[in-house]
Amino acid sequence: MLNRQGRPTSIRPLADEPAVAGAAGSERPPASASGGAAAASGIPQTFTGNRGLVQEEPLIFEIGRPDVSGIDLDEPEAFEPRLGGLERTAPIGLPGLSEPETMRHYVRLSQGNYGIDTGLFPLGSCTMKHNARLNERMARLPGFADIHPLQPVSTVQGALELMSELARYLTTLTGMPAVALQPKAGAHGELLGMMAIKAAIAARGEAETRNVVLVPDSAHGTNPATAALLGFTVKSVPARDDGWVHLADVKPLLGPEIAAIMLTNPNTCGLFEPRAAEIAEAIHGAGGYFYCDGANFNAIVGKVRPGDLGVDAMHINLHKTFSTPHGGGGPGAGPVALSERLAPFAPVPFLRQEDDALQLVEDAENPEAVGRMTAFHGQMGMFVRALAYMLSHGSDGMRQASEDAVLNANYVRACLSDLMSLPFGDKPCMHEVLFDDAWLKDTGVTTLDFAKAMIDEGYHPMTMYFPLVVHGAMLIEPTESESKASLDLFIAALRDLAFAAKRGETERFTGAPYLAPRRRLDETRAARQPVLRWTPPAPIPALQAAE
Ligand SMILES: Cc1ncc(COP(=O)(O)O)c(C=O)c1O
Repeated sequence: MLNRQGRPTSIRPLADEPAVAGAAGSERPPASASGGAAAASGIPQTFTGNRGLVQEEPLIFEIGRPDVSGIDLDEPEAFEPRLGGLERTAPIGLPGLSEPETMRHYVRLSQGNYGIDTGLFPLGSCTMKHNARLNERMARLPGFADIHPLQPVSTVQGALELMSELARYLTTLTGMPAVALQPKAGAHGELLGMMAIKAAIAARGEAETRNVVLVPDSAHGTNPATAALLGFTVKSVPARDDGWVHLADVKPLLGPEIAAIMLTNPNTCGLFEPRAAEIAEAIHGAGGYFYCDGANFNAIVGKVRPGDLGVDAMHINLHKTFSTPHGGGGPGAGPVALSERLAPFAPVPFLRQEDDALQLVEDAENPEAVGRMTAFHGQMGMFVRALAYMLSHGSDGMRQASEDAVLNANYVRACLSDLMSLPFGDKPCMHEVLFDDAWLKDTGVTTLDFAKAMIDEGYHPMTMYFPLVVHGAMLIEPTESESKASLDLFIAALRDLAFAAKRGETERFTGAPYLAPRRRLDETRAARQPVLRWTPPAPIPALQAAE
């Protein structure tokens, strides 16, 4: 098919064609003839592939040409190659576009993304809250953004002071005496916390015998993965019908082989663990440590200090609790708070005030400490954003953010609980509300279908099928940054969908999304067999004839 410029348009597969590029298994919106809500409402297949002002954007390889460039460069001066004959001898055929075409290409691609700046993003367990622009502005100040980790410490005293101040706030909020800032994600923080526990056990001469870690069934997958990676044997604490971990289930598992328990609080079912302090006491009594997964700290900042519950190590996802941007495993930050007992095993580098200056201590004083977790000191940009968030909110504002996050989740719960089922009864939740799929029984609609229909309503789906202890889980975290008006519209949309499911309008769900630029992906194939190589299409006869 040719577009108006006579070039082949991006040929995205129709319903049963195999995918050619990008995610495997993608489908185009239906043409008017194929079934579904879109066809029923008469949405036409357009000539360009665009849908109103939503542009269908081809790959840059499909629209760019090697002989086109948006810039005019001088011919390079002659030079003597120094690559010993390994230098390229022919152009590599990178696609070029004019400057406005380049601009449009990337702006259109960015418009295909749904983010927290586009709309409510109810992804439970991921905390997609508003990132205040003030924090971004601070992180871009040249004194923070342009420094290099190898600069002499005398020239970066301000940055070190910021790190020290952030650590002070984190120790105050957690009620724990030490904090290691280096980890670059929550899972990385878990690794550090458990390495500190392992080092402390080894220092006690129990490395061989104390090698079992207890992990509740409802835990995030990173918990058992971390323990297993460090060579611990993972034993699960069974889930109960009320969503809580019970002391009675932990006690029989305790013994001289127990290294630690990894308990998430608030847990992944959106509930505060009321027996956390008793569990800590029991674990300590058995000689083990209490690792708290603090990924959900955003629900309790300013309300509960984990140190008071007996926590020995806890990671904090700065990118969830203190509003810094998310990012797969990289640009996040997962500092770890440590108890008195674990502080001597903290990694290097750490900060020490000497005379009038802050020094970075690069060599561990304790030979049994965990050593170094990352090159350099951690994610400076995230430290700046997190501290800007803390200072701009103040202690009362941080507490209010937690209260509002909990209030918003409970508002969603209260407004939907007559239609959607709650696996642990209609009791107050923390910052996220968990529904199961019992209410969809006999409707022919699954959790996945419901989530896809939310896309047609302009919402990113909630977290689905996690935690695993709940059948067909739907975990909704609205965050504190949503207004009542925005929550009301979201709730109304979900109620409308819920009524439609119950009325038997299965077609609205099973074929959804109808209105998104792409239809339903084969998500397993997309993850397992991504097509990352672009293969030029065969020349089109009509074009060849014209040339
Ligand atoms: C409960 C829990 N633990 C650990 C993690 C891992 O954090 P990260 O994605 O930053 O590695 C998450 C992330 O969503 C989480 O929700």
